[in-house]
Amino acid sequence: MTTLATKTQLSPEWIVRIAQSLAGLVDLRAAVTAMSDELSPLIPHDHIDVALLTEDRASLVVYETGLETTWGTRLSPVDLSPIRDILSGRSEHMIFFDAVHDDRVQFRGADTGPIQKFGLRSRLHHKIEISGTIVGAVSVSSLQPNVYSSDHLVAINTVANVIGPYFHALRTSEVAQQRAVELERQKVLRIEAEHLVDVQERERERIGMDLHDHVLADMSRLLRNLDEVSLSRDQQVKDARKGLSIAIQDIRGIVEDARPTLLEMFGLGTAAEAYLMKATKDSSALGVMASPPEAADNLHGLVHRERLLVFRIIQEAVNNAVRHADANEISIAIEPSDETLAVHVKDNGVGFAVAHGTRQSGLTNMKARAAIIGAALDITSQGSGTELLLTLPLRSMDA
Ligand SMILES: Nc1ncnc2c1ncn2[C@@H]1O[C@H](COP(=O)(O)OP(=O)(O)OP(=O)(O)O)[C@@H](O)[C@H]1O
Ligand SMILES: [Mg+2]
Repeated sequence: MTTLATKTQLSPEWIVRIAQSLAGLVDLRAAVTAMSDELSPLIPHDHIDVALLTEDRASLVVYETGLETTWGTRLSPVDLSPIRDILSGRSEHMIFFDAVHDDRVQFRGADTGPIQKFGLRSRLHHKIEISGTIVGAVSVSSLQPNVYSSDHLVAINTVANVIGPYFHALRTSEVAQQRAVELERQKVLRIEAEHLVDVQERERERIGMDLHDHVLADMSRLLRNLDEVSLSRDQQVKDARKGLSIAIQDIRGIVEDARPTLLEMFGLGTAAEAYLMKATKDSSALGVMASPPEAADNLHGLVHRERLLVFRIIQEAVNNAVRHADANEISIAIEPSDETLAVHVKDNGVGFAVAHGTRQSGLTNMKARAAIIGAALDITSQGSGTELLLTLPLRSMDA
């Protein structure tokens, strides 16, 4: 085995060179590579990585060069990391003469795949600390055993102090960028979803109007014609009249659903109350409006689409209570405050296992609609009934 020349201390020139090699690099991987090149004559290595803790401090994101290991391709859980003692603050540094056969990295579940696979025998690690907080570690590894000495440890300590703040800053900016991209993506998704809702609603309105203006009118005329043909003893005509009347009723219902005119004309409180009363009329449950409907009619903090989606969510909750709960009371309370709107739909029926219902379309639709308007939807259900709570921010009037 060759002896490796080392320097006990990093000279100021080296420190400047390392710092200079990083200057201007904004990509973390490129920065690790630049650092690796500068360190090679000083701390021999086949692999070098900078591992940084994620914001929740539960995982590590690893930037590496020299060898491509699984550490660099996915988040690694801190608990299973071979350098967990450094990350938890138990040790400032670690040195392995032959990590492949070292008990310290052989704990249960340890993420040591790359050590075994590549034979990373000599390993040297040092914490990266910023303002007293450990933010990660820098690690160098060699395929040869017994490479690193306490001299190298002194050098890696200096390296960690020099490069630590730089890598930390790059990582912070990378996270901020990723967050901005994610926010933008969500915004686009939301705009698309809002657009879809508008298109759907316009289509519903169009269908409603067509049904009303054409189909309903034609059917009503047909019914009147049948009335005029006074063949009331003819059973077939009687049946046809009955069938037609039922069809007309049904279509009226569809038209009403497609055009939430009450909602547009009077507002959310009145429309919700009317819907509740209509839905419970022929059921065993009593519909109770538990808050004054007028108080929720002029909600200036909600735009049309938001009002409509809240109404649709209330409709589905009421429908579910009527159809599935076997309740004797179904109540709605719509409570606006300065900044938020809270909508409660409650029944005292049989309840259900909420988690098991999520694949169903009604519940899924409610969730999707709540997400579109940035509302929190909470459904709790026990044997004694079900309660839906929808909470959404109201825009300030002067916004
Ligand atoms: N208030 C409730 N009381 C009791 N069970 C309920 C209640 N709301 C929902 N459920 C249960 O959850 C299931 C899923 O509800 P969901 O609204 O997703 O579907 P659905 O009402 O069966 O069909 P649809 O797609 O027409 O809404 C229901 O089938 C019912 O078993
Ligand atoms: Mg349903």
